[in-house]
Amino acid sequence: MPEVIAILDYGSQYTRLIARRVRELGVYAEILPPTAGPERLTGSPLKGVILSGGPASVYAEGAPTLKPEWLAQGVPVLGICYGLQLLAHSLGGKVVPGTSREYGLAEVTSRDGDPLLAGWAATEPVWMSHGDRVETLPAGFAAVATSDAGVVAAVAAPDRRIWGLQFHPEVTHTPAGTQLLKNFVFGICECKGDWDLGDYLDAMSREIREQVGDRPVISLVSGGVDSTVATALLLRALPADQIHALHIDSGLMRRSESRQVMDSLKALGLKHFHLVEAENEFLAALAGKSDPEAKRHAIGDTFIEVQAREVERLGLPSDSFLCQGTLYTDLIESGHGEHGTSASIKTHHNVGTAQIVALREAGRVVEPNKGIFKDEVRELGRKLGLAPDLVDRHPFPGPGLGIRVLGEVTREKLEILRHVDEVFVEELRKRDLYHATWQAFAVLPDARSVGVMGDFRTYEHVVALRAVQSVDGMTADCYAFPWEHLFAISRRITNEVRGVNRVVYDVSSKPPSTIEWE
Ligand code: XMP
Repeated sequence: MPEVIAILDYGSQYTRLIARRVRELGVYAEILPPTAGPERLTGSPLKGVILSGGPASVYAEGAPTLKPEWLAQGVPVLGICYGLQLLAHSLGGKVVPGTSREYGLAEVTSRDGDPLLAGWAATEPVWMSHGDRVETLPAGFAAVATSDAGVVAAVAAPDRRIWGLQFHPEVTHTPAGTQLLKNFVFGICECKGDWDLGDYLDAMSREIREQVGDRPVISLVSGGVDSTVATALLLRALPADQIHALHIDSGLMRRSESRQVMDSLKALGLKHFHLVEAENEFLAALAGKSDPEAKRHAIGDTFIEVQAREVERLGLPSDSFLCQGTLYTDLIESGHGEHGTSASIKTHHNVGTAQIVALREAGRVVEPNKGIFKDEVRELGRKLGLAPDLVDRHPFPGPGLGIRVLGEVTREKLEILRHVDEVFVEELRKRDLYHATWQAFAVLPDARSVGVMGDFRTYEHVVALRAVQSVDGMTADCYAFPWEHLFAISRRITNEVRGVNRVVYDVSSKPPSTIEWE
């Protein structure tokens, strides 16, 4: 088992970033809700605890607290922002509302000699984002850094092995922040830094074997990267005879996508692949619907119905397991039973269906990606032998082409869009532009335009191309194509795709637009 740093999540938007930074240092970090105790950790031995920031004030009613078990572990503890205030408050110090609320950039002056601040210049820029501040320190604590506004910025109680920061070392606005995390993880917690995804793979394989034993597992393969990697990991952990992959072809997928996923999993030894052709059902559910939300619901509900029915139909024993590709971030964002402290909560289909919730409660859901982030999933996929082309694919929305054919969805429109999408992506790969963009796709607006072909007038579809650059999809910029590429791609589309006589390029950014059109 890898050495682990526990991160208690008090609801800061940066909690995940702390985990990322620690993992980038080669140390396994696990995020837990503050209501959990050390027994919830999957990694061991515990080498240190980090208390994240959070929106609450320590004096607010119901403000999250710190379980004393964490301090009783005898490992070093680092409180960040709310984490610091909570430590100060619960150990006998005093926290007060800030008078000049310290948000944003600040200068911090530090004292020499504390191991947390080793390697720091006398003054460093840092990122603050909390209204409260520590006014009186608990006994045994010393202020080791102060901000230009006179606020205690870093505290240390080396005898009790507790440190605290009022600012955020994990964000890029604190340029020397990584040095502090390094100091904590290596200098203070004495971690070895030898964790990598190979360890995760071994630990997860063991966990799956223990959880599942020799019972069958139904793996829900959506066609996306996450569930494909999850299934590949199952294949590493269990005999192929135990694994039944279930894939629903909604008719809203890209061309050859279902086949590609099936072929690559078969190449890894998958024996039982159940392909459900459900195009008619999805199209029937979409018929007559043109409102984007109504379409999304129709698609989501049909997935749930078909999935439940087909799982039944497989006729496997009632104590079978269900496997899905849920990521760490999906679980956190859905506030799934644990991180209820997060301010923004978004429900993902796969985390919350009634079937999954019931199975999860019975301990019969297997989620091999539940401890890792998206880019780690991709790396794991490569390690497991999946083709790089498959693993590195752009994100694709759950409702698929159903929300890229604008207005009512028909088989004919889907065919046109699939063809355009295929040409577009093929050209991007050929021109080495696929990875210059974060996401690129075609949209079929519900519009026709007049054109001319030979001596004839045409009246056909307009297609829009969209290519964006983004870090996480929350904001995005239009990708600035060199014109010659765009012209050539447009020419190829109008030459090859029947029913299309005009191509436009979407130059909007997000906000105010979104990445998808619906
Ligand atoms: P928007 O359109 O909101 O998209 O700017 C941001 C990112 O999320 C993807 N997206 C979805 N992904 N289910 C998904 O799994 C959905 O319903 C969904 N809607 C949008 C979108 O492709 C982009 O990457």
